[in-house]
Amino acid sequence: VNIGIVIPAAGQGKRMGAGYNKQFLALRDKPILAHTIGLFEESDYVSEIVVVGAEGDIPTIEELVSFYDLKKVVKICIGGVLRQDSVRTGVRALSPTIQRIVVHDGARPLLTLPAFHKFLKETETNSAAIMGVPIKDTVKQVDSAGNVLETLPRDYLRAVQTPQIFDRGILEEAHERASASSYYGTDDASLLEWIGHPVHMVEGMQENIKVTTPEDLWLAERILTMREK
Ligand code: C5P
Repeated sequence: VNIGIVIPAAGQGKRMGAGYNKQFLALRDKPILAHTIGLFEESDYVSEIVVVGAEGDIPTIEELVSFYDLKKVVKICIGGVLRQDSVRTGVRALSPTIQRIVVHDGARPLLTLPAFHKFLKETETNSAAIMGVPIKDTVKQVDSAGNVLETLPRDYLRAVQTPQIFDRGILEEAHERASASSYYGTDDASLLEWIGHPVHMVEGMQENIKVTTPEDLWLAERILTMREK
């Protein structure tokens, strides 16, 4: 009932090629970021949301938050160069009363309330837990010249998504230690792994895609259409 959400949305969206932050692109009736924040706004387990945006996007995010009447957004912070810096800043901005934190990418607008609540229930007793889905493709490691080094056994591979949930203390410790040693990860769980803290994995949802390239936007539209039927 007292979960704080950090939404990193300070990416540049270079892979979308839209010329501006992909999270403001419309997905059906509203911007991607409005879908993402709206989900947590609706959850009774969530009491605070912090959104982290690029400096130049702050006015746009403020406008979006007021337009869609997102009352749980307590703070909009300026993000960093790397996702990790953005999350760290967001975590700091949550009230001290918040001891359980969920990090969720601004660019993942298709998470559903039932899936989020199932995730909360399944991870209740874990100090760190994440969502992942089985990999559909065969995954190989290559060298810089493009030669295949090995094929990784697929049964034990997962494509990792957000939400990721953490006890505040361990998340903060991992972020502080990683940044002090200039260790960078592409998600938050990797920082906990790096300090040797156990991370639990639960089954995510294939639909919970990260809208990164133009095809993803198309797919996201299709998924929403499918849900209406
Ligand atoms: O870059 P990537 O696709 O991993 O980004 C995942 C999420 O992190 C996106 O919602 C993006 O806006 C956010 N991000 C951020 N600050 C950065 C880079 C990415 O908040 N410096």
